[in-house]
Amino acid sequence: MLNDESRNSSSFFAMSDSETNSDCHNHLIPHKAPLKLRDVYFSHGRWYGKNGDIEREKYKFPIDEVRGNQLGYAAMKLTSSTCKEEKTRLDIFHKFFLVARNNNLFSAPLDAESPLRVLDIGTGTGIWAIELSEKYPQMHVQGLDINMIQPEMIPRTMEPPKLHDVEGSWDTLSLDWDFIHVRTLFGSIQCWTTLYKKIFMHLKPDTGFVEQAEIDWAPQCNDNSLPPNSALHQWASRLLGAMDLYGRPMRVHPGQTRRWLALAGFTDINETVVRVCYSPWSEDENAKEAGRWFNAGLSEGLMALSLSAMVTILGMSEEEVEVLCDKVRQEICTLSYHAYCRIEKARTFSCYPRFKLWFEHVT
Ligand SMILES: C[S@@+](CC[C@H](N)C(=O)[O-])C[C@H]1O[C@@H](n2cnc3c(N)ncnc32)[C@H](O)[C@@H]1O
Repeated sequence: MLNDESRNSSSFFAMSDSETNSDCHNHLIPHKAPLKLRDVYFSHGRWYGKNGDIEREKYKFPIDEVRGNQLGYAAMKLTSSTCKEEKTRLDIFHKFFLVARNNNLFSAPLDAESPLRVLDIGTGTGIWAIELSEKYPQMHVQGLDINMIQPEMIPRTMEPPKLHDVEGSWDTLSLDWDFIHVRTLFGSIQCWTTLYKKIFMHLKPDTGFVEQAEIDWAPQCNDNSLPPNSALHQWASRLLGAMDLYGRPMRVHPGQTRRWLALAGFTDINETVVRVCYSPWSEDENAKEAGRWFNAGLSEGLMALSLSAMVTILGMSEEEVEVLCDKVRQEICTLSYHAYCRIEKARTFSCYPRFKLWFEHVT
């Protein structure tokens, strides 16, 4: 059963302007021209990145950057007035991760007061890298992405985000990063062992860390309150199946990251897992708050996550995807369904040449 709030707002969370706006932008500098129409293409009602010379459609999710006066007349006709903004979803999920991690941007035992060199791969809107740079201005923070959807203004102390395909060559990147951050890149990468090898080789010997957080979308429920034939089960199974077929899996198999890390040369792997409620049904205050943000991010992003994968890979119609997503949205806003999923977080310590690595699935 839906509660009134969920019926009205379609999620358990409505963001106020003060929460969406950062309050520390007095020392920002411009770093790039706005994304132009030539950088994107329109498909199934959303804007996707052309990724420059990089393989088109490599990234299966929209970026929705081009809006308003950046659009030509023809493009404006394509975009309905309800055009969704994928960057909102990414920023809500950033807030969710912060809440789930007690407001910490990282958990690796770094000397945060020193001028560390930090690389954020697949940086998205750059929100994590920007916040890190705001908080620790002495750090050298850089984000890499195949879509330049970061804000046009960035902190003065931050390195400009760079157009870089992390599946391609890393020859132009330096070898002395103190910290490499990876978040929600499952579904983007074909071979994780290859990427972990590159990460390993580009971390500073002896002291470098890599930390990764991924969402295992498969719904779990311990008290059988979520029906086994739920739309949420169907949605996750279709999305994960589609991305398996696409060759950029989003699925989390127990022990798989540990195996990939080991293949890349890391050792001493330590892991734990975090439970995240699909809605604020938990009695625990922190889990409730994290569930609220997770619910907001997923309610906002269901179509973005599903559309291209389900239409182009599974052959579903846009309407079928929309109906499925509407049902999922209702289920995740039903407090009596005690569904949760798992967040896998890896924190690895590259201790070259001893190849020591510490890995953690966050709980
Ligand atoms: C789900 S978003 C996550 C963004 C960010 N890490 C966060 O947690 O907010 C994935 C991002 O990875 C980028 N991406 C996908 N494949 C990539 C690749 N091969 N190289 C660099 N970036 C990539 C996408 O453009 C997108 O911005």
